Amino acid sequence: MADAPKLGFGPFTAPRSGILVVFCDNGLKFGPATAKTLGSATGLVARAAKAERFTGKNGKSLDLIMPEGLKVDRLTVIGVGKAADLKASDVVKLGGAAMGKVPAGASEATVFAELPAGAMNPEQAADLAQGVLLRAYAFDRYKTKRKEDDKPPAKRGVTIATGDVAAARKAYVAREAIAGGVVMARDLVNEPANILYPEEFARRAQALKKVGVKVEVLDVKAMTKLGMGALLGVGQGSRRDSRTVVMRWDGGKKGDAPLAFIGKGVCFDTGGISIKPASGMEDMKGDMAGAACVVGLMQALAARKAKVNAVGVIGVVENMPDGNAQRPGDIVTSMSGQTIEIINTDAEGRLVLADVLWYTAKRFKPKFMIDLATLTGAIIVALGQEYAGMFANNDELSHRLHLAGEATDEKVWRMPLSPFYDKMIDSKFADMKNTGGSRWGGAITAAQFIQRFVADKTPWAHLDIAGTGMDSRASDINKSWGSGWGVRLLDRLVADHYEK
Ligand code: BES
Ligand code: MN
Ligand code: ZN
Repeated sequence: MADAPKLGFGPFTAPRSGILVVFCDNGLKFGPATAKTLGSATGLVARAAKAERFTGKNGKSLDLIMPEGLKVDRLTVIGVGKAADLKASDVVKLGGAAMGKVPAGASEATVFAELPAGAMNPEQAADLAQGVLLRAYAFDRYKTKRKEDDKPPAKRGVTIATGDVAAARKAYVAREAIAGGVVMARDLVNEPANILYPEEFARRAQALKKVGVKVEVLDVKAMTKLGMGALLGVGQGSRRDSRTVVMRWDGGKKGDAPLAFIGKGVCFDTGGISIKPASGMEDMKGDMAGAACVVGLMQALAARKAKVNAVGVIGVVENMPDGNAQRPGDIVTSMSGQTIEIINTDAEGRLVLADVLWYTAKRFKPKFMIDLATLTGAIIVALGQEYAGMFANNDELSHRLHLAGEATDEKVWRMPLSPFYDKMIDSKFADMKNTGGSRWGGAITAAQFIQRFVADKTPWAHLDIAGTGMDSRASDINKSWGSGWGVRLLDRLVADHYEK
């Protein structure tokens, strides 16, 4: 990633250069350290606020260039609205908003981690710092012709001014690890498919060994031996061989059943023989956002030394039309032994997940399985880009995911499963078919299909992230096409319920 600023913590002292960002509430009130620093410039701020009709509403800001009485080049005041209402995820967003006010060319900025009532606590200061990092991300690896005036300076530094520097630094360690996982996931999603094909994806996952994750790669031969006919059928039309990658982080008690995270990793989805229309097909380089999230999550858990046993399993393939590609009407046998009639080769994600879920439940007997997949256009029709669709066979897991979603602002909305929808995928020729036959309830019939491969009644949740994982809605903490959605959500789920 380019543009990552060097982030540090320091005391509340007036910066002598660069950009200063401070917060006020909807009464234009500052905290004591901020007020002291602004000193004689306070009157200037009040005048500017009046002129600009800035009232301190959350998300609004006011800029003063070369403010008299201060040494900085620019002062930015960001409104937080009613300070008492701020949740942790709001503070992360404030960090993002603050970074958003640092011009591309600026080499140093100071952000005062203070609210009108006083200094943010160390956790809040660290949340603010995480927001800065997430916002600073830019995928510009392939930009070779930047103009002089939008080149970032060689060195950029952001200092978070806070009351208890040591405690904030300590709280930041885990948050930095999590942001690192998000960045890793974003990079994978943004990367084009000529660079990031299954073997290369597996290679990048191997980088997790550096943080102590055990990584195993299953090649076509190994998957053939296991009988993964559903996954292999998807990849057989591609010049690039398929892979399954298993990542293990053993930070918990020895012998404790692991939590399992499963990802759809379709490096490119042309639709196969049921080929997609040309318009927008380039977006299908992001059809591995589920797998990217799992890799980012495993990286984050290991980097922050989470006290949990976790396993990440991703099926990585490319869905291409070719003389060897599978056809509509073909019947494949999955690892579970169940047979599948292929109606539409573009409904490939569920075929990949079918074998990877079965494999994971049988091999690891996990406490639960959560899969993430950019699975259906239908979930985007239903929920847009704000919520991911959630399907679950377990109310406790569903509830915990809901809470983690609210806490991190990576929100999930539960959708139904029922025998009525399940019947829609019964096939004339095989045990089931890979589409529901009509477009109605398309996200649900996809989930029903996957549920048939959840072995041994393992508690399970499926997150359809077609609307949230890629081509994402810009926010204060994300300007990237690939959002890294789900890393913060699942890290939070683990931290809140499964670590001791
Ligand atoms: N990868 C797509 C789903 C998708 C669509 C993700 C748009 C992100 C944005 C998936 O493999 C797919 O093609 N699904 C089909 C299923 C259909 C053929 C039953 C769909 O949603 O149209
Ligand atoms: Mn498809
Ligand atoms: Zn797909």
